[in-house]
Amino acid sequence: MTDSMSSLASSLANKRILLGVTGSIAAYKSAELVRRLSEAGATVQVVMTEAAQAFVTPFTLQTLSGRAVHTALMDADAEATMGHIEQARWADLIIVAPASANFIAKLVQGQADDLLSAICLASEAPLAVAPAMNRQMWAHEATQANVATLVERGAKLFGPAAGEQACGEVGPGRMLEPDQIVAMSAALFDTGLLAGRRVLITAGPTQEDIDPVRYISNRSSGKMGFSIATAAAEAGAQVTLVSGPVALATPERVTRVDVRSAEEMLAAVAANLDGQEIVIAAAAVADYRPLQVATHKIKKQAGSAQLSLEQTPDILATIAADKGDLFVVGFAAETERLEENARLKLEKKSLDMIAANRVGSERGGFDSSENALKLLWQEGGVELPMLPKEKLARALVQIVAERFDAKDSTKNS
Ligand SMILES: Cc1cc2nc3c(=O)[nH]c(=O)nc-3n(C[C@H](O)[C@H](O)[C@H](O)COP(=O)(O)O)c2cc1C
Repeated sequence: MTDSMSSLASSLANKRILLGVTGSIAAYKSAELVRRLSEAGATVQVVMTEAAQAFVTPFTLQTLSGRAVHTALMDADAEATMGHIEQARWADLIIVAPASANFIAKLVQGQADDLLSAICLASEAPLAVAPAMNRQMWAHEATQANVATLVERGAKLFGPAAGEQACGEVGPGRMLEPDQIVAMSAALFDTGLLAGRRVLITAGPTQEDIDPVRYISNRSSGKMGFSIATAAAEAGAQVTLVSGPVALATPERVTRVDVRSAEEMLAAVAANLDGQEIVIAAAAVADYRPLQVATHKIKKQAGSAQLSLEQTPDILATIAADKGDLFVVGFAAETERLEENARLKLEKKSLDMIAANRVGSERGGFDSSENALKLLWQEGGVELPMLPKEKLARALVQIVAERFDAKDSTKNS
């Protein structure tokens, strides 16, 4: 794989792509597209219109995607497992390829009379449309006006290409080749918002030894910090990820430094801080550690046992104390008075931003695949709703980039 191909592939790694297939002869190319997207690391959920099934069978696309293809809106079984609203929320990106003239018209009108159109209408995910049709259908002013409306509303237009068509005519209207669609999809995730920036991220819990076999830790899974590292790398940053013990794979294009204790995390952060421009401290660092670490396993004794604790070094405060131009983002995990406590931490530790999240409730927080965050800074803040951590991380990176640029321009003005 060439460098540029591997970077395209990594931008699609772990992305949830909902591929809508509509009634065009080019539907046969969807099979290849499913393969290419999967090879690039994406999870592909295929949704087909009724007409699409006349051109290619759901069975083919199901086999290639490894997931049951969804076709019907009024399907009680599907609604009970992953209904249309859930599918709309699930997707990081919706690609309609091929997009028929009819389906494009339906999108413009906001129709929702089949599964795919209902999902498109109910989703906040970016929408990419790869038209495929006879050149006259494409050239018709109705189609041209519809496409212009979609683009104006923010949809991404992939193609079409010009060339020989299935109907024997020659002209514009051919669907782009699967490779081109994959490349353009990957590029949508490569935002360039942090292009060339150096970002250090901490993630996961720390483990504070009691004796050679026991330790104090917490329920942090590292998912949030790892998702931020992925999103920052996709945004073009050079990312160093200092991680406590977690069971997660290193994101592509990220340099990882593994540590166990708060002390080790501080040392790793200090050793890698030079030249960084942004620090995002998402690790759940233990506040306390045993005063003494027993050299041998502590024996069980009758009655209760006491453990004396001392405070661990405050990594965030240490970074922030001498931060210069460094943009520092902290996390506050709170079980009560979320905003109040987070704002106190923002002030006390002179942070540029704090991401407050409620932990200990039923949804979100530690060891969960989704979360909600309140991002606060001196002059304001923004609330990010309950979302899968990957999506939340992308939204956070976007706001960090905006605030970083705002601070950078004040500094330089
Ligand atoms: C053999 C055949 C090929 C077709 N190819 C296309 C095509 O490439 N593009 C298109 O927009 N419509 C094409 N159509 C028409 C659509 O299938 C038709 O408009 C259908 O209602 C689209 O439904 P859908 O948008 O719900 O998938 C074709 C129809 C037939 C019978």
